[in-house]
Amino acid sequence: MNSSNSPQLNIAINAALAAGKSIMRFYSRLENLKIQEKGFNDYVSEADQESEKIITTALMKAYPKYKITAEESGSNLIESEYEWFIDPLDGTTNFIHGIPQFAISIGLCKNKVPILGVIYDPFKNELFTAEEGKGALMNDKKIRVSAAKSIKTSVFGTGIPYRKKDHAGVYIETLKTLMDARCGSIRRLGAAALDLSYVACGRLDGFWEFNLKPWDIAAGSIIVTEAGGHISDINNTEKYFENGNVLAANINLHQEIIKNLSEKLI
Ligand code: IPD
Ligand code: CA
Ligand code: CA
Repeated sequence: MNSSNSPQLNIAINAALAAGKSIMRFYSRLENLKIQEKGFNDYVSEADQESEKIITTALMKAYPKYKITAEESGSNLIESEYEWFIDPLDGTTNFIHGIPQFAISIGLCKNKVPILGVIYDPFKNELFTAEEGKGALMNDKKIRVSAAKSIKTSVFGTGIPYRKKDHAGVYIETLKTLMDARCGSIRRLGAAALDLSYVACGRLDGFWEFNLKPWDIAAGSIIVTEAGGHISDINNTEKYFENGNVLAANINLHQEIIKNLSEKLI
């Protein structure tokens, strides 16, 4: 563990590592996994629930006065300027299909602004972390967003709107904009928190998705910005945390995408 980490970051890292062990136990016997459909195309398994229990118990024990908002159990109703946002298993559809692309995401906000983030991929044992003003790390090594200068040849991650159709039209326009600008390629990897981590370490040059939830974004947004990246919504405002519409990339690429989109959409 890095010696410059705050106590909050160390607690969040330990919680994520413990939850990761539990998730991998379920992953090794997927044939017995109990799964429920909580909404259209939206699943929750015992692995999600157990992971969330491990994380919320650890965070509540260490910081009993902080608010917690977790995907499966909701909010603990505490009033506080500090709020944890927890996605106990991001990429559940991948997980239940045996596709090894999923993660745990824990973000801490102060007055609604992310101040630290932890994203842990237990299959690949990759730990992404960041704290305000301290840069972003993967397994304790500094990471940076890619230096890509143009949409042309850049590789993007995305999330297809497969649950709600509200954003299908604008989504397809965005996809077409990038394709018309001859982008290098597009990936739909299936775990938004990891997509943001991949932008932060330069594996992806950019990422966009609509209708994400605060627990998908809280940790990833600070990991991206601390890695030198830029994040906004599709109209280039900072309201992505509220509306869940996210575009993340290095600043040059971000500006080029917004410019190309604004000619078509805004
Ligand atoms: C989902 C994943 C997926 C994204 C969805 C998210 P979940 O999270 O991040 O990549 O496209 O929008 O809801 O449900 O697996 O935690
Ligand atoms: Ca998620
Ligand atoms: Ca989840």
